[in-house]
Amino acid sequence: MSHQPQRLLVTGAAGFIGSNFVHYWLKENPESRVIALDALTYAGNRANLDSVEAHPNFNFVHADILETDRIEQLLREERIDTLVHFAAESHVDRSIHGPDAFLKTNIEGTHSLLKAAKKVWLDDKKIPHRFHHVSTDEVYGTLEPEAPAFTEEHQYQPNSPYAASKAASDHIVRSYHHTYGLNTTISNCSNNYGPYHFPEKLIPLIIVNCLEGKPLPIYGDGKQIRDWLYVEDHCRGIDLILNKGRVGEVYNIGGNNEWANIDIVTLVCELMDQHHPEGAPHKSLITHVTDRLGHDRRYAIDATKISKELGYKPEETFETGIRKTVQWYIDHESWWCRVMGGSYRSLLKQNYNN
Ligand code: NAD
Ligand code: TYD
Repeated sequence: MSHQPQRLLVTGAAGFIGSNFVHYWLKENPESRVIALDALTYAGNRANLDSVEAHPNFNFVHADILETDRIEQLLREERIDTLVHFAAESHVDRSIHGPDAFLKTNIEGTHSLLKAAKKVWLDDKKIPHRFHHVSTDEVYGTLEPEAPAFTEEHQYQPNSPYAASKAASDHIVRSYHHTYGLNTTISNCSNNYGPYHFPEKLIPLIIVNCLEGKPLPIYGDGKQIRDWLYVEDHCRGIDLILNKGRVGEVYNIGGNNEWANIDIVTLVCELMDQHHPEGAPHKSLITHVTDRLGHDRRYAIDATKISKELGYKPEETFETGIRKTVQWYIDHESWWCRVMGGSYRSLLKQNYNN
C-alpha cells in the first residue's frame, strides 16, 4: 500500500538520527510540513535543528512522548498523517547503570504515542495514516562469528536493558497493527554514525577524545563486531519504507559493513593523524578497559528484504562517510563542547572509573 507523507510528526527530532532525518526530509520534501517533537533530555539538543528553524514548514514542540493528551491534540491540530518515532533512551551503557528510564520512555512512551494515534486516526474517524517505529538490530541479540546476518525472521533475543526495552516496544507496535488495524511499519537498523552523534557512543567519543588528547577506551579485547551505516542512509531507508513499505511489515536496514571495534578505533586514529596532526600518533591513546556487562559480541544485518522489495541501497561508502564525520567533529568543536555538560561528565565518571 503506497502512502504519501505530507504532514509529519517526528519524535526525538533533536537527537542524533532524528535531527539528521528532519534535515534530510525538508531537503528532499520542502513542501511537506514537519513538526519536530522532543523532550530535550541530555541527548537532545535544540541547536541540532538550527539549520531548519527558519523553514516555513517547520515547527518545534518541546514535549514528552508520555504526554498522551498533548500528542493527541498535536495530531489533530496539525492534521498529521505520518508519525516517525525516534524518541528513546538509546545508550546501552546508561541502560546498564539505570534501566528505569529505558522502560519508561521506550516502552510506556511508545505505547503513549500508539494510544494517541489510534484515537485520532482510527477511533474518532478513519484517516489515512502511517506510524513508523524506528528500532534497532540489538533486539535480535548476538551472533557467533560465522553465523548468517540477522534477517527479519531472526528470533528476538535482546540482551541489554536497552535492547529489551526496544524489543518490547516493537512488540507493542506490532500488536496495534494486528489488533486494531493501525498502519504501522518498523525498521531495525544497525549502528549509525555521522554528524550530531552524541559523544558517549563509540565513534564520536573516540574522535572527541583524540581532539582532547584523552584515553580512547576499548571495552575488553575490542574484537566485538558492529555493522556501521552512515546516518543519511538510514534516513533514506526510512523514507522508502514510509512511501512504499507494506503496512504491518518489519524492514532491516544495514550497511553490509562489519568492523571490529579495535579496527574502527585504529582507523579513526589514522584519519585523525591526517586531519588533525597535533597529537599524532593518536593510536598511542588507545586504552583497554573493563568490558561492558553482557557485551554482545557481534551484530550483522541482512538487508535483502528492503533492497529487493523497496530498491534500497546505501549511497555513502564507509571510506567517505567516516572521513566526512571526522572532519565534521573537527569543524564543530563548539557543538560538542556545548552538549558535553554535567550529565555527560557524570556518565564518564560512572562508566569508566575502572
Ligand atoms: P539519541 O539518544 O541521540 O536521541 C534520542 C532523542 O529522543 C533525544 O533528542 C531525546 O531528547 C529524545 N527523547 C528521549 N526521551 C524522550 C521523551 N520521553 N519524549 C520525547 N523525546 C525524548 O538517539 P539516536 O541515536 O538518535 O536514536 C534514535 C532512535 O533510533 C532510537 O529509537 C534508537 O533506538 C534507534 N536506533 C539508533 C541507532 C544508533 O546507532 N544510534 C541504531 C538503530 C536504531
Ligand atoms: P556504542 O557506540 O555504545 O553502540 P552499541 O553498544 O549500541 O553497539 O558501542 C559500539 C561498540 O563499541 C560496542 O561494542 C561497545 C564498544 N565501546 C567501547 O569499546 N568503548 C567505549 O567507550 C564505547 C562507548 C563503546
